[in-house]
Amino acid sequence: MLVTYGSSCEDMAKSIAKIAGSDLIKVDRRRFPDGEQYVKVLGNVSGEDVAVVQSLGMNPDALFIEYSLLVDALKGAGCRFVTAVIPYLAYARQDSRFHRGEPLSVKVITKFIESAGTDRLITVDMHLHRYKEIKEVFSIPAVNLSAMPLLAEYYRRNFGSQKTVVIGPDMESEQWAKAVAEKLSAEYMILEKERLGDRDVKVSGELSAKGSRAVLVDDIISSGKTLIEVISRLKAQGVSRIDALVTHALLVEDALSKLKKSGLSELISTDTVPNQCARVSIAPLIADALKKDALK
Ligand code: R5P
Repeated sequence: MLVTYGSSCEDMAKSIAKIAGSDLIKVDRRRFPDGEQYVKVLGNVSGEDVAVVQSLGMNPDALFIEYSLLVDALKGAGCRFVTAVIPYLAYARQDSRFHRGEPLSVKVITKFIESAGTDRLITVDMHLHRYKEIKEVFSIPAVNLSAMPLLAEYYRRNFGSQKTVVIGPDMESEQWAKAVAEKLSAEYMILEKERLGDRDVKVSGELSAKGSRAVLVDDIISSGKTLIEVISRLKAQGVSRIDALVTHALLVEDALSKLKKSGLSELISTDTVPNQCARVSIAPLIADALKKDALK
């Protein structure tokens, strides 16, 4: 197995290759004057299995085009089998036509990934909500790894094991909150969220964390508004320590300062999307999946 990468994941791909004992294939990339992307795979991939590491974090459309060009370049150079390693899979949250006239974006992106020439896919904490399992979304073999046990383990090691309540801000977060609560031997509670706009949500439901430390758990932080809503309710109850464990920290529009200002003590995330709170590397998780050849 060889490993190559898109521009969002050079460091992660290097770590994955090192841990998996694979060779790293470098890529020449640039933009034409009009903004179109150019890539060239620098290595012999003929007859090889290649893992392409590219996360679709900030600026997902350009990163996706780059991914597709890479896969086509590999297949054109005789590569036998392409495994997409897409730690953060963008567009997964639009998993329903919420309003008339909208696309089912998650299906659009998965069809694009497949038609690019991908033979199988590995992702991490995909936003699975209305689709419960990744195989309902992809036609190719696909696996959805979870970083939650790693995040919980990091938290337990670095922040001790005092009385903790784990809180998920919405229905779909139950899967992640439950995994963290198990590791921390803590109780968990799940709230209900209503999205009022791109940067506006209302979180309701019973919440009582008095006398405990609160650990908020979610797959994604984007604007931070979801967690800020929960934090303000916890603060009103007098909860003094509030931390958050999140796999994909997009942290748009100064979200981290807003979260801190609202009363969040620590945000701990993975490196699926480069961000200043990335304390947990998912490279070992991915390398392990590649080594085990989990999908065959
Ligand atoms: C959606 O339901 C996700 O699980 C997250 O809760 C959401 O993306 C967070 O977005 P924001 O930080 O903008 O509230």
